[in-house]
Amino acid sequence: MTVPHYENLFSNRANKMKASVIRELLKLTQKPDIISFAGGLPNPLAFPVEKIEDIVVDILKDEPTRALQYGSTEGVPELREQIAIRLKKKWNIDGDAENVLITTGSQQGLDLLGRLFIGSASTIIMEAPTYLGALNAFNVYGPQVVSIPLDDDGIQVDILQDYLKNAMKHNIYMKFLYTVPTFHNPAGVCMSLSRRKKIIDLAHEFDLIIVEDDPYGELRYTGDAIPPLKALDDGGRVIYLGTFSKTLAPGFRIAWTFGPKPVIDKMVIAKQAVDLCTPPFTQFVAKEYLKRGYIDQHLTKIISLYGQKQRIMAKSMDEYMPKEYIRWPVPEGGMFLWATLNENINTTDMFSDAIAQNVAYVIGSAFFADGSGTNCMRLNFTHPADDMIVEGVKRLAGVIGTWGKAKAREQLPREEEVITGV
Ligand SMILES: Cc1ncc(COP(=O)(O)O)c(C=O)c1O
Repeated sequence: MTVPHYENLFSNRANKMKASVIRELLKLTQKPDIISFAGGLPNPLAFPVEKIEDIVVDILKDEPTRALQYGSTEGVPELREQIAIRLKKKWNIDGDAENVLITTGSQQGLDLLGRLFIGSASTIIMEAPTYLGALNAFNVYGPQVVSIPLDDDGIQVDILQDYLKNAMKHNIYMKFLYTVPTFHNPAGVCMSLSRRKKIIDLAHEFDLIIVEDDPYGELRYTGDAIPPLKALDDGGRVIYLGTFSKTLAPGFRIAWTFGPKPVIDKMVIAKQAVDLCTPPFTQFVAKEYLKRGYIDQHLTKIISLYGQKQRIMAKSMDEYMPKEYIRWPVPEGGMFLWATLNENINTTDMFSDAIAQNVAYVIGSAFFADGSGTNCMRLNFTHPADDMIVEGVKRLAGVIGTWGKAKAREQLPREEEVITGV
């Protein structure tokens, strides 16, 4: 009997897909006593279980045939319409149901955009750090990734502008800029309004398309709302991705892409080959969730729950972290706090010590296309219980303090050897 050699049969594309180191590290965070700041999970207390129950009963009574049947690839028309209405009401974004494609999570939206735009000789621009899932989705299609650094106000537009000028001189054309401007994953920061305007100007000047990924925009705990790039887009240059994963339930796998019609039409064709349609049943639930106005009532609850957790983490960081070795901007929303340690502290090397102290984070290098960011870490504050946030920060502060001191000792100048005798 012969055994097939699957490795020889896989395509080049498949062979380039590697299990990420981070998956292996995340397995360690599943130990029972670990306080994990590593996940990117909403808190189960934020799931509107009763509201879903009400809606599901009504759907099965009133419209079971459509909800349980295959649906159109574009998505349930009433849900597409509700999304367009909400974007108009909230941000004065023009468009209608025709500009909306329902996807199976916005992760699928990222993959579909990768399929449509990226070829093996394509260049795309991403932020550094960037969302790991977007890196994985785009990398499958083999682009050249140009990384533009972030600071506390989002992507550094001056560096972006210099890069675009230089690229134009050398006839290098970008397929798109991928950005998470509002409460970034992993960096937590929110791009300032002036930078948003500047990015739209640059998009016009350099004929650039922008993919705006906005899963966290509705989760603001302090400060004033800033409109998404899509609301400032006066030339059909922004393809906007939204999701119900953080405002309803990630298990529903419902998200949307809102964009210019030619892009949506092409995405529909690509999606047909992938999954025919996103489950109509959960789309019907989401449609009712919007139509009945439950989303805004429920958002108030989520914001209060997560806002409290954000304050607890910010306070504990301030109280316990050894500030000579670590700094962080306090996020005004979203789910993550991003910390930068002194250059000589490698968070991958430090990880096993953190696990030994029963606390976990995500290593910084996972979020950089070139594997840099080794002195950074991402901390999630929405999932752990309030008292666990305090305890976890204390433990992590202890580990960082130990590493900081050890690294500082390594750098002390060695005493001159004293030569005695004749
Ligand atoms: C920036 C960003 N984009 C996309 C996603 C994927 O979201 P979805 O659950 O809609 O696939 C996530 C998930 O955490 C995310 O952080």
